[in-house]
Amino acid sequence: MIRFEEVGKVYPDGTTAVDGLSFEVAEGELVTLVGPSGCGKTTTMMMVNRLIEPTSGRILVGGEDISQVDPVRLRRRIGYVIQQVGLFPHRTVLDNTATVPTLLGWKKRRARARAAELLDLVGLDPKTFGDRYPEQLSGG
Ligand SMILES: Nc1ncnc2c1ncn2[C@@H]1O[C@H](COP(=O)(O)OP(=O)(O)OP(=O)(O)O)[C@@H](O)[C@H]1O
Ligand SMILES: [Mg+2]
Repeated sequence: MIRFEEVGKVYPDGTTAVDGLSFEVAEGELVTLVGPSGCGKTTTMMMVNRLIEPTSGRILVGGEDISQVDPVRLRRRIGYVIQQVGLFPHRTVLDNTATVPTLLGWKKRRARARAAELLDLVGLDPKTFGDRYPEQLSGG
């Protein structure tokens, strides 16, 4: 569950990017932010894992006020899809996918098995694509 309670963000130059935003996303629910350029979508997303700190209001993830959670611990349990510059070019597709489990201290075998499952889930056969490097795939 992700819950925004009257969340606001005013950047240091005085720009109000987000103003009194409240909403709740249930576990398993799919939500898309849609709006004109500059309306605050990226700012909103980046506040969920504390890459940007709100200037007012409160954000809860799984019932916890994220301002009280260590940002690194918070980020390691929020999955997101990265492409191109967010990938490690010198690591294989399988190792890139296993990055967070490895940081969490999972045994190599378990992390790689989970990464293979996830590749399979998105339609990338791990046998075909797991040992390739990011530049050997399309961007998406
Ligand atoms: N670091 C910053 N300092 C000052 N203003 C900023 C900063 N980052 C974003 N803004 C401003 O905050 C507002 C919201 O920006 P944001 O990037 O969240 O919009 P967006 O909805 O993601 O836009 P787009 O659809 O163009 O990606 C805009 O007016 C933007 O110019
Ligand atoms: Mg944006």
